[in-house]
Amino acid sequence: MKIGIDKIGFYAPHLYVDMNKLAAARNVEPEKFTIGIGQEKMAVAPITQDPVTLAANAALIILDEEDRAKIDFVIFGTESGIDNSKSGAVYVHRLLGLNPNARSVEVKQACYGATAGIQMAKGHIALNPDSRVLVLASDIARYGLNTAGEATQGAGAVAMVISADPKILALEDQSAYLTADIMDFWRPIYSDFAFVDGKFSNEQYVLFFKTVWEQYKTKTNLGLNDFEAICFHLPYTKIGLKALRTILEEASEESQERLLANYQSSTLYNRNVGNIYTGSLYLSLVSLLEQSEQFKSGSRIGLFSYGSGAVGEFFTGILQPNYQEYLYSEKHAELFASRTEVSIEEYEKMFQQTVPVDGSTAVFGSTNDPAPIQLKGIKDNMRQYENKTN
Ligand code: HMG
Repeated sequence: MKIGIDKIGFYAPHLYVDMNKLAAARNVEPEKFTIGIGQEKMAVAPITQDPVTLAANAALIILDEEDRAKIDFVIFGTESGIDNSKSGAVYVHRLLGLNPNARSVEVKQACYGATAGIQMAKGHIALNPDSRVLVLASDIARYGLNTAGEATQGAGAVAMVISADPKILALEDQSAYLTADIMDFWRPIYSDFAFVDGKFSNEQYVLFFKTVWEQYKTKTNLGLNDFEAICFHLPYTKIGLKALRTILEEASEESQERLLANYQSSTLYNRNVGNIYTGSLYLSLVSLLEQSEQFKSGSRIGLFSYGSGAVGEFFTGILQPNYQEYLYSEKHAELFASRTEVSIEEYEKMFQQTVPVDGSTAVFGSTNDPAPIQLKGIKDNMRQYENKTN
């Protein structure tokens, strides 16, 4: 039985910062951000968007009534969740009106959470071929104003329906994975901002990639020429290229050209959104599928997932016939086209606006957020959400 991605959509908040202007404000050359890091625009979340609303807005793009009835497992991958106890999945389940006979959980391992979610979903579908699983990857990346990580912030979510006989990408069974207890990036419970050893994190990312790639080749006897494209977890778009270059010589000249060209398509959306942690790899997949010419059915796509701390995995999928008909390219194009730029001053002000943590009531009524699902305020320590489409 084939199991894999039947639907995939993403949502990013409607506001962004131009990286050239951020560079000017931080007194660095713009090329450091646009070429050295490889980012053009950074999505900024208004107070009315949190990881729950971002995930729900992403899912709203792809779900129909049949999905709502058949989804019996909601897996929410995040590392910027809003509650230490209750999962974001339960809120999304209610906001989207899903079948009550469902399991709903949150999964955490830095940016790797949604990949773990996909593997769990695969097992669930293998046992329950008629059901569908909603896998969500949603985060707001915050390092702080004037920090080295600032240029690699972002906000957004990816939603995927995992099912039998998927219309987009059938996941293959072989994959390679690795865990090592390292301190490259972490965020203690008491901190709003991530701590990061930037250089070390870059080195470990590349080392993990090389290690799981070697392991994958040994397990499968496949090589780089067997791949149409490889998508990477992209905290910023330059880093995937650095990892790819470490193995590129293993491919024929023709394959090298193909992999490099497809790498560019796989980074376009990320370049304009920033790091969305758990969703970054899957945003890259959406970008590849929507921004490339149609690939042949049967083409193999590689996916490298990396979550600091750290867990890495290399896994693969096979593109299904006419997959392009099932993408949400137009909706995503509209989303990008309707975004509004904010000045650095506005971004800094928004960055400092956070929800109250002292039990007081807050109402976020008067923003211009066009998102259908929003955080409207806080009352009695409870987040008040609204789905305007209901
Ligand atoms: P930095 O140290 O300020 O930057 O921060 P840099 O000095 O290393 O420069 C960056 C690049 O720009 C360099 O290129 C420079 O040469 C180049 P490289 O040598 O690396 O190829 N550069 C220029 N290029 C053109 N024109 C210029 C120019 N000036 C400089 N004028 C760093 C960079 C990524 C360390 C920082 O942004 C950071 O700490 N980010 C957060 C951590 C991160 O993203 N790590 C990635 C791997 S870990 C990961 O992926 C997991 C993560 O997503 C979290 C999770 O799993 O939950 C982060």
